[in-house]
Amino acid sequence: ADTEKGTYAHFMLKEIDEQPIVMRKIIQKYQDEHGEIQLEDDVRQAMTQADRIYIIAAGTSYHAGLVGKQFIEKLAQVPVEVHISSEFSYNMPLLSEKPLFVFISQSGETADSRSVLVKTKALGHKALTITNVPGSTLSREADYTLHLHAGPEIAVASTKAYTAQIAVLALLAVGTAKAKCLHLHFDPLKELAIVASAMESLTDQKEAFEQLAKDLFSTTRNAFFIGRGNDYFVVQEAALKLKEISYIQAEGFAGGELKHGTIALIEDDTPVVAISTQENVNLSIRGNVQEVVARGAKAAIVSMKGLEKDSDAFVLPKVHELLTPLVSVIPMQLLSYYAALHRDCDVDKPRNLAKSVTVE
Ligand code: G6P
Repeated sequence: ADTEKGTYAHFMLKEIDEQPIVMRKIIQKYQDEHGEIQLEDDVRQAMTQADRIYIIAAGTSYHAGLVGKQFIEKLAQVPVEVHISSEFSYNMPLLSEKPLFVFISQSGETADSRSVLVKTKALGHKALTITNVPGSTLSREADYTLHLHAGPEIAVASTKAYTAQIAVLALLAVGTAKAKCLHLHFDPLKELAIVASAMESLTDQKEAFEQLAKDLFSTTRNAFFIGRGNDYFVVQEAALKLKEISYIQAEGFAGGELKHGTIALIEDDTPVVAISTQENVNLSIRGNVQEVVARGAKAAIVSMKGLEKDSDAFVLPKVHELLTPLVSVIPMQLLSYYAALHRDCDVDKPRNLAKSVTVE
């Protein structure tokens, strides 16, 4: 059953492995009989009528929102702001004339996000909730719901919900673009199928990530993740994952920001993981890696096929450049898992954390 571990030692590893299945489920659920993306009329209408989308979320869901903004702006051409719910709640930005609020929440129960929903509803604004739990509070109280179809996520550290959120946001963006009659050279259903196979090939190579986790994280107190563009969003999630379950102090930041502070923290053997999946920043992120290596860092580059160099720690199978977070996050999830495992941490139930936080 979905709520049992079966042969897995931990829910987290099971849920990491389920990601290709979830991608295929989403492809199936969001497709009509003509193989076209299926969005309910009222969702399409809300998306096309909005002059600005406000994505509101917490934790891993916030990180998915950062990726989602790229899809909605680049494909559907609607401006998007992404906000941390707890901040938005007491520091509301100036709103546009016709805003649409999009709540991203695995559980649909996060109190900080609900507080924003209550306040924005009181102002008369419409809300769409993207959640794994259709009957949840955020789903019931919003005007519209999109379901993630990821199946129950039990491990506190979110994995398959993150990739499901990104996939659904891509479909939402393309559905909106089509409703606006924008011409796209991007078939998300086909591209997500390629992603599902790429994910499978990564979850089949766990030993590589277990070894890399041992090399990088066995004894360290801290770790850094760097990336640019789409990779910057994923390194923020990578750092959160590592912190949550292995208790290693970790930070994910934009490659270009290194020189503005963080590089001061690099010492001999400080682990630095760089992601490079974007052609336009491949050379600059590699330049950043050289800068940290020159200061003693132990660096590992995870790159994408076509952009790789011989010295890279791992080369990801190629997927569409908008969808790279769906594959580059998997090594990051596995690195965190094995780091926590080998440091004898409670992988599924890390200290001080709750799966859904129902207090503000
Ligand atoms: C908690 C969980 C995180 C999750 C966050 C937001 O902090 O431990 O894994 O990302 O809440 O949860 P939500 O259910 O709203 O996505």
